[in-house]
Amino acid sequence: MPIYEPVLLKNMSQPGYTGSLKDYEKAGGYRALRTVLGKITPAEVTHLVMKSGLRGRGGAGFPTGVKWGFLPKDYKGPKYLCCNADESEPGTFKDRQLMERDPHQVLEGIAIACYAIGVETAYIYIRGEFVLGANILESAIAEARAAGYLGKAVLGTDITIDIHVHRGAGAYICGEETALLESLEGKRGLPRVKPPFPAIAGLYGKPTVINNVETLANLPHIVNRGPDWFAAIGSPPKSSGTRIFCVSGHVKRPGNYEVPMGITARELIFEQAGGMRSDKPLKAFIPGGASAPFLTPAHLDVKLDFESVAQAGSMLGSGGVTVMEEGTSMVWAALRLTEFFFHESCGKCSPCREGSSWLVQTLRRIMAGQGRMQDLETLTDLCQNIAGRTVCAFGDAEVSPILSTLKYWRHEYEELIRAAEAAGPAELLMPTATRH
Ligand SMILES: Cc1cc2nc3c(=O)[nH]c(=O)nc-3n(C[C@H](O)[C@H](O)[C@H](O)COP(=O)(O)O)c2cc1C
Repeated sequence: MPIYEPVLLKNMSQPGYTGSLKDYEKAGGYRALRTVLGKITPAEVTHLVMKSGLRGRGGAGFPTGVKWGFLPKDYKGPKYLCCNADESEPGTFKDRQLMERDPHQVLEGIAIACYAIGVETAYIYIRGEFVLGANILESAIAEARAAGYLGKAVLGTDITIDIHVHRGAGAYICGEETALLESLEGKRGLPRVKPPFPAIAGLYGKPTVINNVETLANLPHIVNRGPDWFAAIGSPPKSSGTRIFCVSGHVKRPGNYEVPMGITARELIFEQAGGMRSDKPLKAFIPGGASAPFLTPAHLDVKLDFESVAQAGSMLGSGGVTVMEEGTSMVWAALRLTEFFFHESCGKCSPCREGSSWLVQTLRRIMAGQGRMQDLETLTDLCQNIAGRTVCAFGDAEVSPILSTLKYWRHEYEELIRAAEAAGPAELLMPTATRH
């Protein structure tokens, strides 16, 4: 099995590494911040990040340096950076490990980004359930402030960089960048209509950059080892760098694996994660979190990079790879994920709010052995009327488990329905779907 050099998970894989400031400094930590602060211009740092080819690890894969470049150039008022640590996508658990085990790597990344885009105040919006991660980050921020890496006059310069941790209240939608901003402002987390984009009118109406934890954690390494080093890893030019894949489900060794982008799904699942847990054949996998369409064994040789996964009809998304073995009911799998999306629909857009309820009710009916063939058309029609018709990408996400299972495993839906039909007419079961 090939062994890859970890970048983001390197420190924490060293025996005895605690994530303290002392340990981080011993491992070369905050060297990158010293390199850039007051020595390289902010524009040069942005250029460096553009040159590295770093793309966002939060889901959409937007080029990080390009995003920073959208901030108005001569804006004099306050601007903000938000580190998206909401990580609520089922099957995704990498940001949590980065924050809990090597918090200063994340803080250094945030500080470098703040310098590059001229921001004095950054917020880490962390999922409420990550109590440990939030506590660790708060202690790390205090340590970094005391050591002069954060606060006023960072490292003896006239630059101010402060970071605050904001704990969410447990809503998946608050990972969507504009819902995150609303929540951070103390309002209910509902996505905003774009444009204007956050780069122009974000937090408190001011120019704002939102970046994922893993995206930001890459910055110290890009500075230390150079953009060419980073650009050469993985599948250049469009998918550079390593990626932390969170492998879960029916594998022998679930966990986070940091590998160069572009290794195949087969290698990740069968070599890195040890293969199927019970040696039953693989039936399905999700390559990028619950929002990403399912793929099949025929896709095992697809390279896990942005383009290849998109060409295969799915997306790299949040890096959550969920593996399912032969024997898994794909209708049940679609139902479980749809129940999640139904529960988390924020209610702003009618197609998603109402449609998710109908999706759950119809799927539950099919699973309960009371489906009708017509239900499959109803499901498809509902999905088509949700996708692309909502303010944010949640609508697209919630239909992917259904559309992709209908695409590859329609026969499983049909078998359940045929069995129901053969059993004769039954009292129509339409369980009401309630949000708790
Ligand atoms: C419903 C929904 C949930 C999201 N959840 C997260 C999340 O938990 N963490 C995250 O980084 N991005 C999440 N995103 C993507 C963010 O909107 C945004 O694109 C990302 O934080 C940008 O950072 P990046 O450019 O570094 O990837 C979500 C998007 C949607 C539509």
